[in-house]
Amino acid sequence: LATIPPPPALLRPLNVPPRLMLGPGPSNVPPRIQAAGGLHLIGHMHPEMFQIMDDIKQGIQYSFQTQNNLTFAVSGSGHCAMETAIFNVVEKGDVVLVAVKGIWGERAGDIAERIGADVRYVSKPVGEGFTLKDVEKALAEHKPSLFFITHGESSSGVVQPLDGLGDLCHRYNCLLLVDSVASLGGAPIYMDKQGIDILYSGSQKVLNAPPGTAPISFSEAASKKMFGRKTKPPSLYVDIKWLANYWGCDGKPRIYHHTGPVTNFFTLREGLAVLAELGLERSWAVHQENALKLHKGVEALGLKLFVKDPALRLPTVTTISVPNGYEWKDITTFIMKNHAIEITGGLGPSAGKVLRIGLMGYNSTQVNVDRVLEALRDALQHCRKNKI
Ligand code: GLV
Repeated sequence: LATIPPPPALLRPLNVPPRLMLGPGPSNVPPRIQAAGGLHLIGHMHPEMFQIMDDIKQGIQYSFQTQNNLTFAVSGSGHCAMETAIFNVVEKGDVVLVAVKGIWGERAGDIAERIGADVRYVSKPVGEGFTLKDVEKALAEHKPSLFFITHGESSSGVVQPLDGLGDLCHRYNCLLLVDSVASLGGAPIYMDKQGIDILYSGSQKVLNAPPGTAPISFSEAASKKMFGRKTKPPSLYVDIKWLANYWGCDGKPRIYHHTGPVTNFFTLREGLAVLAELGLERSWAVHQENALKLHKGVEALGLKLFVKDPALRLPTVTTISVPNGYEWKDITTFIMKNHAIEITGGLGPSAGKVLRIGLMGYNSTQVNVDRVLEALRDALQHCRKNKI
């Protein structure tokens, strides 16, 4: 006899309240992508599934602007893609240089440290970006084999300029690894033209699919390092040899590795299809236009944008300095309770300093700009702690 009774919580109906997801992700899933997630399952090794995976591969090549053959989606979130990149490219003792200007550099460094890399850091205050000069100085000093930098730093709201970084890294015999989880589709990125060796993103931001899959691509030079390594990567789940085979990138018949998230692949395929239909240039322009409208409205409310240099403001995630006389948490809680809108506070080094508003993919609209500004105005009226 089962002596532990069924949990009462599971005997109640599933409760998923409607919400406008204007935080830094996940964003709302539009009906077309939601419908793809409701389709019946097929097997992860069925030929029709391989066709869908091939579609995904082409969609990633388009959105990354790359012709790399070794392009696919990992079965996991953006963190899983970060681990896929670092676990495969880095061997114990390798010098890895990490650019820290928010939380994602901290995470990448932590992952590389866990596998015994010799991790060096170069930092900028949160809210700023790196210049080519900053990076060159650090490359010359540390002589790394891999350099990590985040394109769309969702914790600070900074978009990092990437032009010239690839050539610079290659001059120093270093591979360039870029995190574009929060920026892909919302700000221009050209993997091949910009000489990026490893690029990854996530499904749950501009692509508007549920979290759980993460696009990734590797250049020839990155492949050479990975396939020439002396030791096995520390994870079987994200071992590049297995993943290359699973995604049909090695020219051999596909054999079972892990059971891919079939439903999530359907939704990722549709998210990439929506982006392909809209076109990258249009998508970049829409994100920029709506971000500028939001910035104007935020300043009209008497609030201050956290990123001082307008050229460094990330079009997908806007950061606002927490105003004097307010607790950030009171504002986000008020807006959730009274407007059913998610906005968030800071993350890592920006915690306590900022409010973050995301306008990503399907959510990047004038209507949503108006709704979140109205919610902010209401919160400013109701959440003041003390007179200033
Ligand atoms: C997650 O990506 C976040 O920025 O909160």
